[in-house]
Amino acid sequence: MKSKRTTLVHLIYFSRLNLAADAAGRTRQLGEITRQAQKKNEFSVITSFLLVEQNFAAQIIEGERTSVNDTFGRISNDTRHRDVQIVEWREIVKREFVNSFVTVIRNPANDAIFQKAGLLPMFQRGTPKGGVIHSLAVALQAESLAKQGIDHLFV
Ligand SMILES: Cc1cc2nc3c(=O)[nH]c(=O)nc-3n(C[C@H](O)[C@H](O)[C@H](O)COP(=O)(O)O)c2cc1C
Repeated sequence: MKSKRTTLVHLIYFSRLNLAADAAGRTRQLGEITRQAQKKNEFSVITSFLLVEQNFAAQIIEGERTSVNDTFGRISNDTRHRDVQIVEWREIVKREFVNSFVTVIRNPANDAIFQKAGLLPMFQRGTPKGGVIHSLAVALQAESLAKQGIDHLFV
């Protein structure tokens, strides 16, 4: 049987969130985004990781090229964030993220990992590096998987 050739890519972008100032409103809005994005990403076989630090967001989206393009097309038109800028787009050999959509917000429990990555000053200058966003996301995912006791699957 002839198999269809597909190209796996990842896209990294960053933006500024237009979310409510109060914590409850913000949580509700992020919950709405998560519900929509999870459903769509599962359908399109997209895996992704969204980082939130202050009102800056950065997301890595992995999947088949046309699915990633379509997904990013919708994301970039969303008024819940602004100044959406692509940092990196390239072909990848394999996926690195295990979930269709996960959001990790900087908090006291993961503060040291964010601090070490040093992304905030880059966000503030408007020049976050793809490699820095990527390694921070990988580190946060590894920590979360280790907490769930499933780190041995990813050696
Ligand atoms: C920061 C942020 C990240 C998002 N990530 C995704 C995503 O990974 N996948 C997705 O389908 N939609 C994502 N969305 C939601 C889309 O922008 C859009 O609202 C949703 O896909 C529904 O699109 P539609 O109303 O055109 O059907 C995200 C939105 C924001 C603000």
